[in-house]
Amino acid sequence: MNKIFVTRQLPNEELVKKLEKFFIVDVWKGENPPSKKILKARSKGCWGLLTMLTEKIDLDIISDNPSLKIIANMAVGYDNIDIQAANRFSIKVTNTPDVLTKSTAELTIALIFMMAKRLQEGNLAIRNNEWGPWHPSWMLGKDLDNSKLGIIGPGKIGHEVAKIAKSLNMQVMYYGKKTKKNFPGNFVNLENLLKNADFISIHLSLNKETTKFLNMDHFTMMKNDAVLINTSRGQIINQSDLENALKKKIIGGAALDVTDPEPLPATSELLKMQNVFISPHLGSATKKTRLAMASLAIKNLIELNAGRKPPNMVNE
Ligand code: GLV
Ligand code: GLV
Repeated sequence: MNKIFVTRQLPNEELVKKLEKFFIVDVWKGENPPSKKILKARSKGCWGLLTMLTEKIDLDIISDNPSLKIIANMAVGYDNIDIQAANRFSIKVTNTPDVLTKSTAELTIALIFMMAKRLQEGNLAIRNNEWGPWHPSWMLGKDLDNSKLGIIGPGKIGHEVAKIAKSLNMQVMYYGKKTKKNFPGNFVNLENLLKNADFISIHLSLNKETTKFLNMDHFTMMKNDAVLINTSRGQIINQSDLENALKKKIIGGAALDVTDPEPLPATSELLKMQNVFISPHLGSATKKTRLAMASLAIKNLIELNAGRKPPNMVNE
């Protein structure tokens, strides 16, 4: 039997048992990710790896493993894996698309509501004993109805966000390469989107082209009450530019489920701002979705082991 290393504990033991029908399975049981040294040592001699986005699979690990045939990432993003190195050594890389689309889109919409209704600011005001008698013009937020949502990165998640947004009567526009036929809304250029949107939501995958893609040039184009939402990867935003833009009130606020780095240190300037809401990378964090992600990663391993093409290869 081929050997695989599973870099974190899976949602349940059944999944491990399923793997054990096909493979010799080594699971890293630590609460935290394995260190680089451990990762390298435990990957040694493996035919496959089942990895999470916390494990950096670089040229060093890949080139050290002549028996390695597949890296099954339990995430839709695969920026943690050096794809070029995997290609060089003919290693198949798979991800877990589709199964987390709804969860991530729901979280995105939750963040939009959170910011529009100023829920965090209101809650903080109460906790700080600043809630006075009802006031006609205190803590006024925005209606989503008839507001403009700009989606940067119209992939599966962006499409799902648009569908929900349309049902809330938001006007949706997109920037990016069309990935499906029937997107609800218009494709515009980036400048147009930035200048007109009330809410701007990022749904790009992280790679060389998208690293620090959004910077001060873009923030200055945005409306001064625009809200930026990011549920993709923190590195897509130039975060120090964003901090400055928020401090100088160049934009209205930001809700970030992803940051650079992660975890974001509790001392971060961003956490001192009332109009910034940060959640700890919860896009796919539901029981149902994590189970589906793990099952799909396992399926990719099993299919290749049976001599078939894994269903979710990203480096064809
Ligand atoms: C989560 O961030 C993922 O890429 O699945
Ligand atoms: C607000 O609470 C209202 O009654 O209008």
